[in-house]
Amino acid sequence: MNEHATALPEPPPSLAGRDYLRARDLSAEELGGLLDLGLALKAAQASRMPHPLCTGRTLGMIFHKASTRTRVSFEVGMSQLGGNALHLAQGELQLGRGETVRDTAMVLSRYLDAIMIRTFSQADIDELATWADAPVINGLSDDHHPCQALADLLTLRERFGALEGLVLAYVGAATDVVRSLMEAGGLAGMHVRLACPPDYRPRVEDRVGAEILAERHGGSVSLVADPTEAVAGADAVYTAPWPEPVRSGRAAARMRAYHVDGAVMRLARPNAAFMHCLPAHRGEEVEASVIDGRHAVVWEQVANRLPTEQAVIYALATADRAEAAHEEVA
Ligand code: CP
Repeated sequence: MNEHATALPEPPPSLAGRDYLRARDLSAEELGGLLDLGLALKAAQASRMPHPLCTGRTLGMIFHKASTRTRVSFEVGMSQLGGNALHLAQGELQLGRGETVRDTAMVLSRYLDAIMIRTFSQADIDELATWADAPVINGLSDDHHPCQALADLLTLRERFGALEGLVLAYVGAATDVVRSLMEAGGLAGMHVRLACPPDYRPRVEDRVGAEILAERHGGSVSLVADPTEAVAGADAVYTAPWPEPVRSGRAAARMRAYHVDGAVMRLARPNAAFMHCLPAHRGEEVEASVIDGRHAVVWEQVANRLPTEQAVIYALATADRAEAAHEEVA
C-alpha cells in the first residue's frame, strides 16, 4: 500500500485486473469512482504532491496510428505515478511481421503490468485483451475512444458540478468518440442528443444499446435530424474532425450543415461548454471563433486526459493492491 494512499479515494476494487475496452465496460459506480480518483490525482499534481502509485510498474503503449494527446498523456501520467511507459510503435513489434495477436499478448503479459493499444480494429483490441493477462486499455480504435470520454466527463463535472441531467449535443459525423460519449454519458445519467449526417450516423445497435444504458441511469440518447434541435438549450456542444473522405469537395459542402459556429452556440445555454476531442480543423467542423472563444473547454479536456488515464492505470494495473487489501480484511 502506498504511504500517501490515505489522501486519495481508493479506486473501485472491482476494476482491479480488468480491461478498459469500451466505456460501457464500467458500471455507473466504477465510472464515478474513476472520476473521483482522477480529480484527486489532478489536485495532488497541481499542488506538487504526486502519488507514486505505480512504482516499479511498466505500461506498454502500442501505437498503430498517430497520436499527440494519448501518447504524451499516458507516458507523462505513468512517469508522474513513479512507473515507466514503453512506446511500441508500428513496425517495432513482430506483430507487424506475422506474429499473432495471441502470442504477442502472451509475451507482453510476462513483461508489462498493463498494455495500452491504439489501433484500427476493435476486434484486434478485443483479441489482445482475451489473451493478455495484463489489463488492456483501449487508446482508440475505429469504434471506441473510452479514455477520451472519461476526460470529457471529468471536464463537464468540473464545469457544472454534477453530470446527471446535463444535456450534451453532439453535432457532426458519428465516429469513435461518439460511441464512447453515448455510453459514458448514458452511464452518468446525461441526455445525449446526436445530430449526424445521413452517411455518418451511429449504428442502430450501438445507439439502441446506449439508449437502454442511459434509460437505466435516468438519462437518454436520441438521434435528431436537425443540429439546431440537438443544440437547443444544451449544456454542452461537442464536435469532432470530419472523416477524411468528406473533408473536401461536394461531400464537405454537405457536411457544412453539421459544423459548429457562433449561431449554433447561441442556441445552447448561455454558459454552455464547447467541446472537441482534437485535433481540430478550424473552418471545417468548427469555426475558430468558437473553439478559440469563451465557451471552449478544449484545453481542459486535454489536461484531463492525464489524471483520468492515471486513475484507469492505477485501478486496473495494481491488482496485487486489491488482493492485499482483501487479505487484510480477511
Ligand atoms: N484526442 C486524441 O485522442 O488525441 P490524439 O489522437 O492526439 O491522441
